[in-house]
Amino acid sequence: MDKKVTVIGAGNVGATAAQRLAEKQLCDVVLVDIVEGVPQGKALDLNEAAPVEKHDCHLTGSNSYDETTGSDIVIITAGIPRKPGMSRDDLISTNAGIVKSVTKEVAARSPEAILIIVSNPLDAMCHVAFDASGFPKERVLGMAGVLDSARFRTFISMELDVSVENTHAFVLGGHGDTMVPLPRYSTVAGIPITELMAQDRIDALVERTRNGGAEIVGLLKTGSAYYAPASAAVEMAESILKDKKKILPCAAYLQGEYGQQDLFIGVPVKLGAKGIEQIIEITLTDEEKQALQKSADAVQELKDLLKTLG
Ligand code: APR
Repeated sequence: MDKKVTVIGAGNVGATAAQRLAEKQLCDVVLVDIVEGVPQGKALDLNEAAPVEKHDCHLTGSNSYDETTGSDIVIITAGIPRKPGMSRDDLISTNAGIVKSVTKEVAARSPEAILIIVSNPLDAMCHVAFDASGFPKERVLGMAGVLDSARFRTFISMELDVSVENTHAFVLGGHGDTMVPLPRYSTVAGIPITELMAQDRIDALVERTRNGGAEIVGLLKTGSAYYAPASAAVEMAESILKDKKKILPCAAYLQGEYGQQDLFIGVPVKLGAKGIEQIIEITLTDEEKQALQKSADAVQELKDLLKTLG
């Protein structure tokens, strides 16, 4: 394979992302974790699935970073997931330290890589990786909007009994309770859901989307969602690796767009070989603008908290 993607963290999200990258035949994969044997074991297991799955992507597992040298993309999933009763924000001090140290390691060896951050609290961890890498803003982005939109799409398809393939949804803002699902921009076969559903049903789906992560944590009890988060990260990686220029909601560093300054928050971006190739500004109603501002304020609070953590 001529493309190389490193996945940091060989836990639930990381290993599932590695599996999807290989099974979609996108790239060779280097899986890194601090726990001895785990990345090696999972990489070997996935290599042994390759003859049956019919792909020639090679997976390498490691506890060090030399094998990551020259990666095109680095997906960072290292950190702790939340347990029942925890918010994503409760993870901040532990995960900030982890994301900072792993970012420095990968940035030194893959100075041209594009970083996709998955560790939570997502928007704050993007700030940590942005600062630790020194990379330009086009090459640091966060996975959240694709996941939140996929959850919204799932609920829309269940509600209307239509194919998920007909659904499209936009969820903007921070990856937390204040995220901003946008029903006006969410469609089924191009028809806005505002024309297909009563307002109370839309409100219920929006609420379920906002709590989508917590719903899974409540069921699993020992950790958080990973199949859909891995799928979302891999969709972003695929758009970059194949220079598809898909427009996807991702956490991006804003400098004036949507009225936000020096803040990572979820907005629609064009994802291609160069990373974020464009930030797309869509028109929002006053109510949507207020919701986005509330979400931005919540991210800003975490960004300020990071400063006190050092
Ligand atoms: N370097 C490398 N790997 C690390 C480090 C580190 N410094 N610290 C922790 N890890 C590894 C752990 O050993 C573990 O294998 O990160 C992995 C995390 O995996 P899980 O505990 O299974 O968590 P997961 O469900 O994959 O979630 C990872 O993504 O969605 C977010 O909120 C979630 O922040 C969490 C992250």
